[in-house]
Amino acid sequence: MEPQVKKVFVKTYGCQMNVYDSERMGDVLAPLGYVGTEKPEDADLVILNTCHIREKAVEKVYSELGKLRRLKRDRRASGEEMLIAVAGCVAQAEGEEIVRRESAVDLVFGPQAYHRLPQLLARHEATGRAVIEAEFPAEDKFETLGGRSPAKTVTAFLTVQEGCDKFCTFCVVPYTRGSEFSRPVAQIEAEARRLAQAGVRELTLLGQNVNAYHGLSSTGEPTTLAGLVARLSSIEGIERLRYTTSHPRDMDDDLIAAHAENPKLMPYLHLPVQAGSDRILKAMNRGHDSTHYLNLVARIRKARPDIAMSGDFIVGFPGETDADFRATLGIVREVRYAGAFSFKYSPRPGTPAAEQPQVPEDVKLARLHELQALIQAQQTAFNSSCVNRMLPVLIEKPGRDPGQLMGRSPYLQPVHLLGESALIGSIIHAHITGVGTNSLSGHYREAA
Ligand code: SAH
Ligand code: SF4
Ligand code: F3S
Repeated sequence: MEPQVKKVFVKTYGCQMNVYDSERMGDVLAPLGYVGTEKPEDADLVILNTCHIREKAVEKVYSELGKLRRLKRDRRASGEEMLIAVAGCVAQAEGEEIVRRESAVDLVFGPQAYHRLPQLLARHEATGRAVIEAEFPAEDKFETLGGRSPAKTVTAFLTVQEGCDKFCTFCVVPYTRGSEFSRPVAQIEAEARRLAQAGVRELTLLGQNVNAYHGLSSTGEPTTLAGLVARLSSIEGIERLRYTTSHPRDMDDDLIAAHAENPKLMPYLHLPVQAGSDRILKAMNRGHDSTHYLNLVARIRKARPDIAMSGDFIVGFPGETDADFRATLGIVREVRYAGAFSFKYSPRPGTPAAEQPQVPEDVKLARLHELQALIQAQQTAFNSSCVNRMLPVLIEKPGRDPGQLMGRSPYLQPVHLLGESALIGSIIHAHITGVGTNSLSGHYREAA
């Protein structure tokens, strides 16, 4: 008998790894008869795949849960049920507390438990009580997940590494994702081949510390990220490879060399430094100073002179003085980023820095504005430097306007141009003619 069709609505918060996980939750639910919906009010199951990184991210989840409680009540009034699940890093960090704060929640499960969703749903049905699963089971989640449903996209995320053992004093990730784990090479290759056969042309390899990758080859040898990139770039159909997020401590010579030697490895690197002051970097337990970072950037630029650098910054870390903050501006000026993310420090429960005396909110905000203005100016300068150049663009999808297409440059900039939808999935040469706030516009010239 065919399973009855049910609808699931998944809302994703946080990083790309959550995007990947949400997609895989869909794969796990499909055999139970679940199909995706964009409308939470039609859903038999709503999953919030959450992020715990900053306080604001957590607040958003609770406010969304309030709305869902009302939807659930409305559905029940019309004779239909709605299960509410909280997944991801808030689920891992808060566990039972979520059900205490919001009794409409039926399921709570962490990032290392979603492959067991069918069992969790069955348990809920059998007991009628909230099910909470926030352990780190020893079994290999990825092994249990099995095959991935064919993607319908040109680009795809592929998680190759998870977790973190670095324990930066501001960060919850080691507590929510667990310790570092690398997927075996063969498992990743199989997933990549399947994606390539389904039409994917660009893979972004994901990991909280993706360049700490050390997965085993089929002969049991540990493989570096450079080694993995080399293997994946030989898969037919895979034209571009990217990886994120890297840690400055794990950027090895082979990976830097790959940027010089492997034309499929795109010239874009997200390499967060967080701060420019060595005193603050030490207090953050980053395990590197500003000189190490700048030397690294110099070596990477030597290997790949046109590389677009990106990063993350935290302002207002406990004890950050004005001089410390100036050092952050200094490192930004020196590196010249193509773009970067910056955040006000947010004290997170259970992390060492949360216990320290805090920088006042207005100081944090003023610093954030000053830093963001500098980063924005650098981003605009980088984008403007692309005007009048010919860039290879991988066409991803139709653009906003009729006849328009959207693709990406090697530097990850969105590029808008006019062209036939048959070009989707191919790399073309585009003449860049204009700059928007966060994108480029251009003209199709020829197939690459
Ligand atoms: N693994 C990556 C980053 C993961 S979290 C790395 O090591 O760089 C993504 C970004 O969120 C971090 O780079 C940091 O800039 C920011 N972040 C993490 N914890 C934060 C906190 N408590 N307050 C503000 N920003 C934070
Ligand atoms: Fe968090 Fe630091 Fe680990 Fe990155 S390296 S995930 S910032 S603890
Ligand atoms: Fe957020 Fe968890 Fe990613 S805390 S940034 S969703 S690893």
